[in-house]
Amino acid sequence: MSRQSVDRFDTVTMAFHWGMALVILALWGAGHVIAAMLDGPQRSELIGLHKVMGVVILVLVLARLAWRFTHRPPRSLPGTPAFERLVSSLVHAALYALMLALPLVGILLSQSAGYSVTALGFEVPILVAKDPALHELFEFSHQSLGWVLALVLLAHIGAALRHHVVLKDATLRRMLPSRD
Ligand code: HEM
Ligand code: HEM
Repeated sequence: MSRQSVDRFDTVTMAFHWGMALVILALWGAGHVIAAMLDGPQRSELIGLHKVMGVVILVLVLARLAWRFTHRPPRSLPGTPAFERLVSSLVHAALYALMLALPLVGILLSQSAGYSVTALGFEVPILVAKDPALHELFEFSHQSLGWVLALVLLAHIGAALRHHVVLKDATLRRMLPSRD
């Protein structure tokens, strides 16, 4: 298929995709740095940044889903087997669910430890009171969801690279701005 005839995602979808991908990968890495750091001002600062950027992701994914439901993505590439279309839809749905669940559980994790969550000049409403047992549960859930995200992303990025490098089709190019 020539470059000109590629049916691309729209610019807003691409901006959401690559902007959020960058922030989410950074949040994932920062989360593990936080977990490995000893308590102190530097750790608190990094947690503060992680919380703000995590809440930004929650706001952005809501806007992204609103855009997604009102703008059709391009059709699957011709010849894509039904099974592959199904798996790809399931992986994308899982990524949207994780983009919602990780920040939500992050907020619950902070609030159940007695910390407020403030981002972009407003305080996130209190969803849960301080509760050490719940805090343990949310901490475990946030950590586990982080590993689920890593696994799903390995499949997602692996599939994108397989299409680009092995199958040499337009799957990845459809998510990249045209260079024509
Ligand atoms: C898409 C958004 C997010 C991603 C991908 C993410 C990812 C992670 C990861 C991978 C960890 C390390 C877990 C571990 O192994 O211990 C972590 C830790 C943490 N996250 Fe998030 N996070 C997100 C959003 C948030 C939000 C919105 C908050 C709070 C408002 C938050 C609060 C925390 C805190 C406090 C820790 C440290 C937990 C500890 O004490 O070990 N996260 N995050
Ligand atoms: C280097 C990293 C990444 C690459 C190469 C990549 C590549 C792609 C490509 C090629 C598509 C289009 C798939 C198609 O046409 O069926 C896509 C869609 C998508 N990607 Fe990624 N991606 C990356 C990272 C991420 C990250 C970090 C997330 C979120 C956690 C993410 C979430 C999504 C979602 C939800 C879609 C579906 C878009 C829709 O149709 O609504 N991607 N990605």
